[in-house]
Amino acid sequence: MAENYDYDVLIIGAGPGGYVAAIRAAQLGLKTACVESRATLGGTCLNVGCIPSKALLHGSELFDEAQNGHFATWGITATPMLDLAKMMAEKTKAVGELTGGIEFLFKKNKVTWLKGHAAFEDAHTVKVGDDTVTAKDIVIATGSSVTPLPGVTVDNAGKRIVDSTGALDLDEVPEHLVVIGGGVIGLELGSVWRRLGAKVTVVEFLDQLLPGLDGDVRKEAGKIFKKQGMNMMLGHKVTGAKVDGKKVTLTIEKAAGGDEQTLDASHVLVAIGRRPNTEGLALDKAGLSVNARGQVEIEHDFRTAVPNIWGIGDVVPGPMLAHKAEDEGIAVAENIAGQTGIVNHDVIPNVVYTAPEIAGVGITEEQAKERGLAVKIGKFPMMANSRAKANRDTDGFVKVIADAETDRVLGVWIIASLAGTMIAEACVAMEFGATSEDIAYTCHAHPTHAEALKEAAMAVTGKPIHM
Ligand code: FAD
Ligand code: NAI
Repeated sequence: MAENYDYDVLIIGAGPGGYVAAIRAAQLGLKTACVESRATLGGTCLNVGCIPSKALLHGSELFDEAQNGHFATWGITATPMLDLAKMMAEKTKAVGELTGGIEFLFKKNKVTWLKGHAAFEDAHTVKVGDDTVTAKDIVIATGSSVTPLPGVTVDNAGKRIVDSTGALDLDEVPEHLVVIGGGVIGLELGSVWRRLGAKVTVVEFLDQLLPGLDGDVRKEAGKIFKKQGMNMMLGHKVTGAKVDGKKVTLTIEKAAGGDEQTLDASHVLVAIGRRPNTEGLALDKAGLSVNARGQVEIEHDFRTAVPNIWGIGDVVPGPMLAHKAEDEGIAVAENIAGQTGIVNHDVIPNVVYTAPEIAGVGITEEQAKERGLAVKIGKFPMMANSRAKANRDTDGFVKVIADAETDRVLGVWIIASLAGTMIAEACVAMEFGATSEDIAYTCHAHPTHAEALKEAAMAVTGKPIHM
């Protein structure tokens, strides 16, 4: 242990990045503390992100299946009644169990939770409330918060104009929910409230939903969400909002500018992205600054410009995803302990948990073109997958992008009911440098949705059997 410091490692933030880093550091024998200002551990993901959103996606999907979906297809007649308070309570229970679980793991691994807001005093010293603590190494894992939209002030307590946190906690089903931003949050939480009975309109600045995903997937997703009844205003931006009692009037114009129009809503969800949390951290006192995007810059080993300070998760460059933060948490702890912690940032899956799910890993077809890469592409529709057909859930396809010369898999994109689970196989394959032929000649259990990945891989160099 470092003799002159209170701790070997001090981690700021107990989200998926910070709590995982703390547990791994303690497992490696380092005296570890984690500062968290929130009342519970787990960060954005467990408290107001991944977990409550997935809980509500699950609950609302059950309701929708009974109300409008597959129950009738299978000859099951039901008239569901929604008890929203009960659904919310179940979500809260799941969150409580998981955040409590992290507290248990901290105790089990002897990680000290320092409760309060951390601010640097110098490169080895952090103030937490009235206390001052020192550490040999410090990890910044402060995560991110909602990007505000000028002219549209979020007021979660007022429950009319909300961000994702407010949208996870509404006490009534909106009559008309306008979602500003057709990204991941907009589509996941828009889906929740549409399934529970809200009219949903998505206003998206770009001319397609879900920026960053493969073009074919974005197009197909757009069609599916429209078919499900979401109204789309692509290529538009919101310029202002006025709340009048239970009514919100939005002013909207074309993305390129032009005539203003108005749109009335009962509720508005602002979901235009997230930005890194560094406010109040006094980075300058530690000799650090942020880049133009507000992020803390790091080297490949997660070290910042100050050698004993490290950064991981949403506060550093890269996708803002919980599993990316967790893997960086393990790697940074291993590096601090003198081991070689590595994250392969080329193989970070991305999943949108709508129905069907949308998932991808690696490069898109557009990125292949931009980089001048010669690629071969294999596609297979879920319509031709026997399990999807048997289950009557045939929306979507699998797309495999492989290097034209070496056949190495460079990207996999999936829209399918189980895309989030199916993508794990693609990640393992890519991590091991697999070719499309490796996937095509791997025996897949029948009948499973995963066979669609095998057949898409077969389509890269030859022909799938079932098409
Ligand atoms: P965070 O989870 O943001 O944790 C940082 C913690 O640091 C916070 O608890 C904060 O209170 C604390 N903190 C900040 N500053 C200080 C300070 N100075 N002192 C003390 N404490 C401080 N990702 C997925 O991969 N899958 C999903 O399904 C998914 N769903 C999401 C749904 C929603 C609605 C949202 C908003 C996000 C979702 N995400 C999802 C993203 C995911 O939540 C983040 O990528 C992840 O939480 C980032 O982890 P982190 O540890 O970097 O930061
Ligand atoms: P996002 O970046 O996914 O989408 C924001 C969307 O808003 C974009 O399509 C953008 O073009 C649009 N936009 C920006 N300004 C606009 C404006 N003025 N008017 C209209 N549209 C505008 O961001 P989102 O959905 O807020 O999510 C933030 C992050 O949280 C994501 O990047 C993701 O990393 C993470 N997240 C991950 C989830 C998952 O993994 N399933 C679920 C939810 C969030």
